[in-house]
Amino acid sequence: MAHKNQEHKIPTHVAIIMDGNGRWAQQRGKERPEGHIAGVEAVRRALKAAVAEGVKYLTLYTFSTENWGRPKEEVDGIMELFCRSVVAETPELKAQGVRARIMGDRRGFSEKVNHYIDRIESETAEGERITLIFAMNYSSRHELTETFRTLAKRISEGSLVSEDITTELISNSLYSREYPDPDLIIRTGGEYRLSNFLLWQAAYSELYFTPTLWPDFNHESFREALEAYAGRNRRFGLVEEPTK
Ligand code: IPE
Ligand code: IPE
Ligand code: MG
Repeated sequence: MAHKNQEHKIPTHVAIIMDGNGRWAQQRGKERPEGHIAGVEAVRRALKAAVAEGVKYLTLYTFSTENWGRPKEEVDGIMELFCRSVVAETPELKAQGVRARIMGDRRGFSEKVNHYIDRIESETAEGERITLIFAMNYSSRHELTETFRTLAKRISEGSLVSEDITTELISNSLYSREYPDPDLIIRTGGEYRLSNFLLWQAAYSELYFTPTLWPDFNHESFREALEAYAGRNRRFGLVEEPTK
């Protein structure tokens, strides 16, 4: 069996479906927004853990296109929390060498939210230690639909022919085009589903599910997920364990 050194057992890209904020709040007799507020603390812990463990890309599923269907107060609260967190956290992100990006359809956000998106992205653009990607107004089917529409438009304009459409071209046309595919996808909150997250990019991702509710997620939880990942044998459809 090929020897894998420790370095290769650390995933380059970890993506997390941060689920369970509402239940965490309900269990404490609090309103759902309290769970989202506590969830921000967990984001801070997860980011610290990812940096400490040497992960280079951390994608956080923050708000799905379907989440707009929640009660208005909850949606407004999440958007407000994002804006406030940008103000509160940006200095620390810069100090830690974090480059923050938002991935999703920006046309769905208010002017105010777009202002804070621009702000966090521009202020952290120099970060080289880790790329932190917030998937917001994101869903995989929406991303794919937008991508196919863009490619179809290019064909009708004559700048692309159908034979040019390859898996690489599609990967390079998605919102995620600048990032490698996730090696590990973690879902907290005990559900076993992807909820429209990175369906294309997850083709060969390792999946890890934990009952831990997102606001309880900490460095130890992150380490447990990395340990599970290190024990997996990624074959990518081949018979031998890849050596690289
Ligand atoms: C995840 O927690 C956060 C978002 C989807 C914004 P939930 O709010 O879905 O929490 P549960 O699943 O209802 O407990
Ligand atoms: C997935 O959680 C979306 C985010 C974590 C942002 P949901 O709570 O929206 O997913 P379902 O409804 O359980 O599938
Ligand atoms: Mg949920």
